[in-house]
Amino acid sequence: MNIAASVATPAGAARSDIAERIADFVALRHEFHASPELAFREKATSLRIADLLARWGWRVERLTETGVIATLENGPGRSLGIRADIDALPIAEATGLPFASRVPGLMHACGHDGHTTILLAAAEHLARTRNFTGTLRLIFQPAEEIGAGARALIDAGLFERFPVDAIFGLHNWPGLPAGQFGFVEGPAMAAVDKIDVRVRGKGGHGAEPHLAIDPIVATSHAIAALQSVVSRNIDPREMAVVTVGSIHGGEASNVIPAEVELKLTLRSYAPEVRARLRDRIPDLFRNVVAGFGAEAQVDYHEGFPAVINSVAETRLIRAIAVGTLGPDAVAEGFRPRTASEDFAFYLHHRPGSFVFAGNGDSAALHSPEYRFNDDIIAPAATLWVALAERFLTGEPQNG
Ligand code: NI
Repeated sequence: MNIAASVATPAGAARSDIAERIADFVALRHEFHASPELAFREKATSLRIADLLARWGWRVERLTETGVIATLENGPGRSLGIRADIDALPIAEATGLPFASRVPGLMHACGHDGHTTILLAAAEHLARTRNFTGTLRLIFQPAEEIGAGARALIDAGLFERFPVDAIFGLHNWPGLPAGQFGFVEGPAMAAVDKIDVRVRGKGGHGAEPHLAIDPIVATSHAIAALQSVVSRNIDPREMAVVTVGSIHGGEASNVIPAEVELKLTLRSYAPEVRARLRDRIPDLFRNVVAGFGAEAQVDYHEGFPAVINSVAETRLIRAIAVGTLGPDAVAEGFRPRTASEDFAFYLHHRPGSFVFAGNGDSAALHSPEYRFNDDIIAPAATLWVALAERFLTGEPQNG
């Protein structure tokens, strides 16, 4: 690839400047796409990212083995962080594209190759033009797919070593038209937690139930009672989902088993709702099955917190999208999603916003048929450039 530096462009010309160079970045995206790497193993990917950024004049540092943090300082002022995720998935690609994955069983099926390329396209432009005052930091994060990368960077001292006043990120979104962006103030993506339950009774002959403690009957009542958690224990104005996705117990029609196992998924936005689900479900389960003489062992597995966008930063980037890309670039009425994102962890430390970038009518994320839409690289990179220039000029934010 040949992404050569050239003369600086005037402010506001980012869109045409990036569009002129887009072929190089599409080629770079295809290069990433052909060589996917799994969470925390993004060695070649992070090396390529670091090499390009260093060549363009960014100060490049490693945080964790495959995390890349790039800094561009241009005088005193505020500091801004923009994050892209870089990892792929254990999925066998079925797109038939000429640049499809060359690694059997691995695929960029979530478009992180695209997110990385978008941020690199913005980085190349910003290093040449430097039309801002302050400090810009780019965070190329490993291991988003397993929900561990953001936490690993934060634990390794991200915000202490590389302080930022606010942080932004994006995800492509199939179903939203390409070129449109979705902005959500407040809760934008759900917290996801899991509960595993093992209900123990006393096995016996199916014809002699009075000599057994039937865990299937006890569990059935507990599942019915669970339906009351959302309707009776959660504020009706809040969102919560409780789903029993797996239940296993018994083998034969004439045998009462000793145990039943269940797996639940929980979704919520508000921290207090999440805490209520965590406390209420084990309590209810144990008490209902106890009424039948059975015992429940309940194991709660904490997953991702919800992505909760701060209002001011979301209004700012929305206003920047309107000003830079036009009012049609904003998807009106874009609703919060029930999927999850480990960007949530950053927002526990700093204000910021997670943006949805329309990917058009592609197959779903994590599908072997999924295709990232290269048409969104230029507008999304333009949005990052405009955000950096606006956030770091120190102008009042009227968004
Ligand atoms: Ni993703």
